[in-house]
Amino acid sequence: MTFDITKIARPNILTLEPYRCARDDFTEGILLDANENTHGPSFSGMTESENKLELNRYPDPHQQVLKKQICEFRNNERIGEDKIDINNLCLGVGSDESIDALMRCFISPGKEKMLICPPTYGMYSICGVVNDVEIVKVPLDLETFDIIPENILNKLINDPLIKLVYITSPGNPTAKKISESNVFKLLEEIEKNSLNVIIVLDEAYIDFSPIGSSLCTLVNKYPNLVVLQTLSKAFALAGIRLGITYSNYQISKLLNSMKYPYNISNLTSDIAIRSTTAESLKETKNKINKIIEQRGIVLDKLLKLKYVGQNKGGLNANFILVEILNKDLKPDNEIANKLYLTLAKENKIVVRFRGNELGCNGCLRISIGTSEENEILVSTFEKVLNDINNQLEL
Ligand SMILES: Cc1ncc(COP(=O)(O)O)c(C=O)c1O
Repeated sequence: MTFDITKIARPNILTLEPYRCARDDFTEGILLDANENTHGPSFSGMTESENKLELNRYPDPHQQVLKKQICEFRNNERIGEDKIDINNLCLGVGSDESIDALMRCFISPGKEKMLICPPTYGMYSICGVVNDVEIVKVPLDLETFDIIPENILNKLINDPLIKLVYITSPGNPTAKKISESNVFKLLEEIEKNSLNVIIVLDEAYIDFSPIGSSLCTLVNKYPNLVVLQTLSKAFALAGIRLGITYSNYQISKLLNSMKYPYNISNLTSDIAIRSTTAESLKETKNKINKIIEQRGIVLDKLLKLKYVGQNKGGLNANFILVEILNKDLKPDNEIANKLYLTLAKENKIVVRFRGNELGCNGCLRISIGTSEENEILVSTFEKVLNDINNQLEL
């Protein structure tokens, strides 16, 4: 086994011990150990359930109840022997915190590098710039929006300063799940070539793919695989900010030692625990199915419009990526951007212009809403797009 945490983590991080508080050892009685205010908060209209959350107290730094519940449902999803437990998890303030934490853990600023596969999620680059990390780019296959393992591997072999590879599966803005065989191929080649590199698989949208698609239970089998998930998408909880990092025990211990001890608030963990019970998961799955059904309906209707080209992306997320055409029926950034701005400014419908992303010329990314929202979107889309093209034809 090539993977060696002492060769890849930053030396200063390896020396860290998790922050300890008196509450780690004693949790009952008159608690006067953490300089909290035992008189309680003073906002009006506090409900019974808010009162129960003990908002005057610091939250639990370990969140074992929530972690256990998450492990349980992920372990049940994928058939096979690979299982995870709470020691494989680190929780963060959305997966944006996890993206940043991994860089701070493994990449020495101003010296070492990360690799991304455009078109991809913008926060990897933003965190890279903040952390003074050089960003190496190896584009996806622009036809299939899958990774090209050989190209990534060539870069890694020729540049030992690259420590992390961020892969988004399903991708944003591509909505395309990366094939398992390509992920495994990359992991196996990294091992064969004795490279000390971590593959970070960002699965923010994985629950819009069939159950069992997540690779998070494989982090013990592949020690250099780290998987990120979030409750912001399929669980419809972007507002609570809860991200999950799955990794082998060694990496997980480092990430948990690094994190701010109280990063998950009492409010967040309360809602997250209630949202990951077996009963809530059933309801989540129902809503996911509705979104998937609606995605098909929206796409069908949009693709019938004269100036809408192909669905450029995949069908593995809660959004689509469609090409907007000019009168010569070629993808056109100017028209796509005009459509985006007119929808937002004059019709109060906000989608996302993605035409400047690699391989996404003329593309708009559209999240799938409720059936009512989608109907308004489609009818307004048609009208505005026709108006724009009619004006140009005059
Ligand atoms: C691929 C990807 N990863 C991570 C995130 C961030 O998620 P969170 O809300 O958990 O910070 C997003 C949000 O859009 C995303 O698209």
